[in-house]
Amino acid sequence: MTTFILSLSVLLFFHITIIHSLYTSNYDPIFNQIDLFYGTLDGGHMFPGITLPFGMAKIGVDCLDATFGDAYSGYAPGGLITGISMMHESGTGGSPEYGVVSQLPFTSEPWQNLGLRRINDNSDEAVVGVYSVSTPNIDIQFTSGERSGLFKYIYHDDDDTVKVMVNASHHLEGPGRPWWNQHFVNGSVETKDENGYVGYTTISGGWGQQDPWTVYFCGEFNHDFKNVGSFKQDDYESDSSEVSSTTQDESIGLIFEFDQNDLNNGELLSRVGISFISTDQACSNIEDKNFDFDAMVQQNQQNWKNEVFDKFEIEDQNQTLVNQFYTNLYGCHLLPSNRTGENPNWPESAKNDIYYDDFFTIWDTFRSLNPLINVINPTRGSEIIQALINIYQYEGYAPDGRSANQNGKVQGGTNSDILMADAYVKKLPNIDWSLAYQAMVKNAEVAPPYKYDSFAPDASTKEGRGALPDWLEYGYITRNYTRSVTRTVEYSYNDFALSVLAKDVSTQDDYEQYLKRSANWQNLWNFNATAKNLNYTGFLQPRNADGSFNSSTYDPLSCFGCYWGDDEYEGKPIEYGWSVPFDMETLISFYGDDADADDVFIQRLNDMYPLHGSKIADVGNEPSFGTPFYYNYINQQYRSVELVRYIMNTYFKPGASGLPGNSDAGAMQSWVVFSMLGLYPISGTTTYLIASPFLSKITITLENGATVQIKANNLSNENIYVQSLKINGEDWKQNWVDHDTIFGANGGDLEFELGDAPQIWETGERPPSPGHFDK
Ligand SMILES: *[C@@H]1O[C@H](CO)[C@@H](O)[C@H](O)[C@H]1NC(C)=O
Ligand SMILES: *[C@@H]1O[C@H](CO)[C@@H](O)[C@H](O)[C@H]1NC(C)=O
Ligand SMILES: *[C@@H]1O[C@H](CO)[C@@H](O)[C@H](O)[C@H]1NC(C)=O
Ligand SMILES: *[C@@H]1O[C@H](CO)[C@@H](O)[C@H](O)[C@H]1NC(C)=O
Ligand SMILES: *[C@@H]1O[C@H](CO)[C@@H](O)[C@H](O)[C@H]1NC(C)=O
Ligand SMILES: *[C@@H]1O[C@H](CO)[C@@H](O)[C@H](O)[C@H]1NC(C)=O
Ligand SMILES: *[C@@H]1O[C@H](CO)[C@@H](O)[C@H](O)[C@H]1NC(C)=O
Ligand SMILES: *[C@@H]1O[C@H](CO)[C@@H](O)[C@H](O)[C@H]1NC(C)=O
Ligand SMILES: *[C@@H]1O[C@H](CO)[C@@H](O)[C@H](O)[C@H]1NC(C)=O
Repeated sequence: MTTFILSLSVLLFFHITIIHSLYTSNYDPIFNQIDLFYGTLDGGHMFPGITLPFGMAKIGVDCLDATFGDAYSGYAPGGLITGISMMHESGTGGSPEYGVVSQLPFTSEPWQNLGLRRINDNSDEAVVGVYSVSTPNIDIQFTSGERSGLFKYIYHDDDDTVKVMVNASHHLEGPGRPWWNQHFVNGSVETKDENGYVGYTTISGGWGQQDPWTVYFCGEFNHDFKNVGSFKQDDYESDSSEVSSTTQDESIGLIFEFDQNDLNNGELLSRVGISFISTDQACSNIEDKNFDFDAMVQQNQQNWKNEVFDKFEIEDQNQTLVNQFYTNLYGCHLLPSNRTGENPNWPESAKNDIYYDDFFTIWDTFRSLNPLINVINPTRGSEIIQALINIYQYEGYAPDGRSANQNGKVQGGTNSDILMADAYVKKLPNIDWSLAYQAMVKNAEVAPPYKYDSFAPDASTKEGRGALPDWLEYGYITRNYTRSVTRTVEYSYNDFALSVLAKDVSTQDDYEQYLKRSANWQNLWNFNATAKNLNYTGFLQPRNADGSFNSSTYDPLSCFGCYWGDDEYEGKPIEYGWSVPFDMETLISFYGDDADADDVFIQRLNDMYPLHGSKIADVGNEPSFGTPFYYNYINQQYRSVELVRYIMNTYFKPGASGLPGNSDAGAMQSWVVFSMLGLYPISGTTTYLIASPFLSKITITLENGATVQIKANNLSNENIYVQSLKINGEDWKQNWVDHDTIFGANGGDLEFELGDAPQIWETGERPPSPGHFDK
């Protein structure tokens, strides 16, 4: 324990120092407040490399570090750098994906199994727009555009050889989960003129069990090479300008050598473009024109300012909190990736239709990440929805998980439905809503084709609702299917989402049908179920087809393996019991009769977290994201405020170890951002629950030009409790607010008075249950 704390503080210190060293006076001070290494350790799996908001190129170091384990985003703080590659995911679970299209500069070391050691562990430095790492013989820097990158290698010693390896087989490995490992399928690389190369790499496997997919690349150096040779496995051929392979897992590539005398101060630059269409498109995707490294860094930073940081203005004395806000905000803008014009499988007529990939996964992001983007960045939000609709149109189903141009996997429901409802009620522009509704109906009515998954052979996990036949026949998922509880709860939320659109774009019958189906979670509620040491009864419970509750191995406090083959996926029955925010009214009524339902509600919610109870809910995982805020539903909002503060202070820290679980494509960061704003969205509805802000004043400029101001008067470490609230100048007595009131055409103005005494200040209506359905 002591060692851990010690190493953590060393790391923190180190990264802060580092940011200062790269933070030369050229960069805007905002970039000094963002820690790119946040959440890279202890299972956060964050990608600390360089990209643009939702950029296709995500350039970072790929490391082999036995003590770190599988490097999901390529990065590990120590070990060997085996390549610097162009594509990564960020913060994911599952298994490592991508890590393709790599370069590695080297000098005279043996080329076999090449890997560079850093001058010392944790010597990587990064500021938004530029990454740098020092090895004994070469300093490496890189920056990124949308679909290309620019590398700068500074070779130290005049006498050294100057080489660059282009390993066309390179990809991230996941030895910890070999069943989901990626494999090299085939590829080739050849020289282009006297200073470049083109080629492609085909990869299969990974978490989504992808069929082979191909990425094309095009590289150029700012000097002609002196020699080029090729390698295949352990054989090296000098004066060879091309190599290819169709043998699985074979290692192939080119090694370029340059004349040290040609270089200026030992500097060699290389620009690389990538494409899913062709090597020509990869070449035309190269953005740099003059090997101008600084200009590309500045362009990258300007894009981040324009799209993200210039929209926020913060006034607060506590720099730790300000940095935490901006750092988490950054992490909300990495996935999915804008691949418009880069889908090789769509018809010619659709080739420029909007396309995003790397939904990793919507299961994680639908609760708070997509609702955040829909507020602060509706242009992106809209493009993401358009992409989902286009994927449905050209491939059959909108995805839940997706990478490498293929859907997979679905952990629970078809949560793209909730994204569409959220976008709809927030009035995102440029979306064909009847087509969106069609995509949702496909999920709700047409079982997907079967694709074998050894972890869950019962039904497809690629797309759609695998357990749909049970849903339609019984109104819940029986134990004949895996993840029966998770699927039942999520299909309910999904059908609620359908009802939201059906109301306007379809018939009254459809609206009523889907609203009714959204109540199906109630079918798994066993009023008689008990849990050890808890003095209340009634929990979700797996149910057999004959209507009996299955009690042979049931425990509301356990999900056993909590995995693909179990009744609940990554959450206990008691946690999933809270996952119906569209109808809290019914849930509360299930907790008891009117007289004591509120007390039981408090008791049940208190029991979930160590603040009052024990560690039942996993704060680091998505099914329980909303739960801490739900005291609002019984008008005791101060309890939500206390619990959210407790969770933030206990589990979320600055620094590389700052996330209490996988970032999950930024889902976790979006929870932090909303918590700090003092709001929590109920996805697919217009409701925000109100907690209390962490910063004295935040001003957000919306895309429509209006501003949203959130002011917390009298805020301090102790003064966290709302005493009173004004919204748009009026006394506000509800602990929730509607989207249009604060994020609409006129923006909004929230002014909190905070103090150190808990108050029940809300005398108004409780938060709505727009999906309320009394069975
Ligand atoms: C090329 O990449 C593959 C896959 O990552 C790796 O197994 C192989 O060792 C690399 N080859 C060299 C020469 O580094
Ligand atoms: C590479 O693999 C893909 C997928 O299996 C295949 O379609 C393609 O024809 C292969 N290319 C070569 C040159 O064998
Ligand atoms: C800044 O905020 C952090 C996190 O809430 C807190 O621990 C720290 O005490 C605050 N610093 C000051 C000077 O108030
Ligand atoms: C997504 O990429 C396409 C193609 O490069 C581009 O036209 C579009 O503007 C991008 N979207 C955003 C929001 O920047
Ligand atoms: C719950 O228990 C009561 C009393 O023992 C019984 O009448 C009822 O049928 C039970 N309900 C279910 C769903 O098992
Ligand atoms: C249940 O137990 C809690 C303590 O854990 C106690 O405060 C509460 O009064 C009990 N409720 C009932 C109905 O017995
Ligand atoms: C459950 O699955 C088994 C085996 O596939 C099948 O024989 C049985 O009819 C199914 N039961 C129900 C209720 O669907
Ligand atoms: C519970 O489910 C298991 C597995 O599906 C089955 O073997 C068992 O018979 C069921 N028990 C009851 C009481 O229905
Ligand atoms: C500010 O907080 C203090 C407690 O620290 C409280 O006594 C005071 O009433 C608060 N001021 C207002 C205006 O709420």
